[in-house]
Amino acid sequence: MADYTLRVRRFDPQTTRGPYWERFELELEPHRSVLEAVLDVRDRVDGSLGIRCSCRAAICGSCGVRVNGRPALACNTRLRDAAAGGLHPDGRTVVVEPMGNMPVLKDLIVDMDAVHWKKIHRVTPWLLNRRPVPEREYLVPHDDMADVTQTMACIQCGACVSDCLSMEVDPEFVGPAAAAKAYRFVGDPRDAEQPARLRDLAEDPHGIYDCTHCFNCIDACPKGVAPMSQIMRLRRISGSDHHIVDRNNGERHEEAFATLVHDYGLLHEAELLPRSYGGNSWFGKFHPSAGMELVESLPAIARAVARGKVKPAQALRGHRLAKRDLDAVRKVYDVVEGRARRSELNLYLSGVEEEAPAP
Ligand code: FES
Repeated sequence: MADYTLRVRRFDPQTTRGPYWERFELELEPHRSVLEAVLDVRDRVDGSLGIRCSCRAAICGSCGVRVNGRPALACNTRLRDAAAGGLHPDGRTVVVEPMGNMPVLKDLIVDMDAVHWKKIHRVTPWLLNRRPVPEREYLVPHDDMADVTQTMACIQCGACVSDCLSMEVDPEFVGPAAAAKAYRFVGDPRDAEQPARLRDLAEDPHGIYDCTHCFNCIDACPKGVAPMSQIMRLRRISGSDHHIVDRNNGERHEEAFATLVHDYGLLHEAELLPRSYGGNSWFGKFHPSAGMELVESLPAIARAVARGKVKPAQALRGHRLAKRDLDAVRKVYDVVEGRARRSELNLYLSGVEEEAPAP
């Protein structure tokens, strides 16, 4: 047995009191979970403490909370690990609070319907069959199924939604969980609506191009689903395979990133905006939309300069790489673009394929 302090963020909608913190002292074995600690407090000290849970085995996805400021499954987080890696130097305090980006219903229970499930429904989360439907079962190539396996591991706990920075800025963003669910069907060869699904998510101003690559969802996911990687796959299929040029300028913006790194070896920030609108031509710099976007961005640019994040002279001049280094960067492009078929790295499946027996 060991002594722990549980610091829980509480909220009771039936009172006029706002959210507040409460401390509970408890004694439990270090290998017990944070969920068991919360349930222990609920059983012994305060029966009104709210948390959602069911399987207690990291399967149902009900017990998503924030432990020490990071999203986690309470049932899959050991007290000893949470206390040791916590925010308090005493090594025995564990901070538990409700997930972010979703309204709190009570204590550690958030309204998943209002945000998470609403977004999942947004992407038509079921298979839209190709026709004609075969008389017996569909036969799906092994590689295609392996490709969507990663997204099928999602347990809908909402951890990625909780930590999504884009959703914090734009609550309408479709979000990492729903985008991963969309890839589940976009990548399935039995689905008939791949182009329509992609066009829908590309054209939506809150769709796949709203993600800013912060990697938080990848870190947050307890099942290795890597939602951001699925968003990048959706973009690649949308742009490279279906040539969908969206009205949000997302596809052209990505293309501008790629061509600038090819040309300069590193990103040339001052060129990014004009090239995103006008393409890789000198006249493109004067595209009216680029001018309007620049005017809108001036406050952000001024803040970045004031805080020393951007040095105007260097931003305008661009980075200079030694020729040898620039050639090395371009060689990477040659190798990747020279491939007959784009290969997606699936880091979820691991292991070594057995060699075929000698004939
Ligand atoms: Fe089911 Fe934690 S209780 S995942």
